[in-house]
Amino acid sequence: MAADFSEETATEAVIASFADTSDPRLRELLTVLVRHLHGFVREVEPTLAEWRSAIDFLTATGQKCDPARQEFILLSDVLGVSMLVEMINSRKSEQATDSTVLGPFHVVESPPRALGETIDLVGTGEACLVTGRVLSVDGRPLPGGAVDVWQANNHGFYDVQQPSEQPAHNGRGLFETDKDGRFWFRTVVPSPYPIPTDGPVGELLLKTRRHPNRPAHIHFIVDAEGHVPVTTHIFVADSRYLESDAVFAVKRSLIRDFVTVDDPEEATRYGLASPFRHAHFEIVLEAVATPGHP
Ligand SMILES: [Fe+2]
Repeated sequence: MAADFSEETATEAVIASFADTSDPRLRELLTVLVRHLHGFVREVEPTLAEWRSAIDFLTATGQKCDPARQEFILLSDVLGVSMLVEMINSRKSEQATDSTVLGPFHVVESPPRALGETIDLVGTGEACLVTGRVLSVDGRPLPGGAVDVWQANNHGFYDVQQPSEQPAHNGRGLFETDKDGRFWFRTVVPSPYPIPTDGPVGELLLKTRRHPNRPAHIHFIVDAEGHVPVTTHIFVADSRYLESDAVFAVKRSLIRDFVTVDDPEEATRYGLASPFRHAHFEIVLEAVATPGHP
């Protein structure tokens, strides 16, 4: 094989080397990977220095990762790959809630909390009530559903980014929908934030004159028995960067007004001071297809 390894035969030779892979999917992935990777190299014809710098970049990306920092997810996010994979894996009926990226900050389990509890353990920021319902596509409310939420604080940081300033689990909560499929919790209005720029992905953005910011949002993963879980966000309607999210995750259907409510009675009902901001999110899940009922 080695004697014949030339520019002309390189791609087919490497693909052939995987011919005995017993897992057909792995064989397919490697075959297509080699084809595209070689195609890329043939097109750009990198110098040895450029090849070395690409290796250094990927090495630095891996070395930046730790249990609280996922630089490879960031890289996938800023290249639009995370959104593409998410969309390919969540083609569904129009009624079902759109999905969007998981992002790099769902790195700890959200603590279970009672309905109405606050996820803001610091007490700064503009008070906010989030209410919603989890429904099946046929309109049926889904009781006992899991609503996992996480968000940045009002300065744009997640708890794991500021372990000395924010208590663990600040901005996180795992709620269970009531008998009518409803959920509600208190929090603060999230703020836009830059994705971390102190690593190789930040350098990439700097060199390409891209800003690192994401519009203000709250993350959700919602799951209910017999249904397909959805990973999504709600975006704050008047937030900056809705038109230029650094990770390409905004969908119109996920933008919500965080309306100001000046109603002392309503505020008392939810344990808030008036005025407060309120966002509502109806989450529609697709039923798991059962054999014979696609
Ligand atoms: Fe986020």
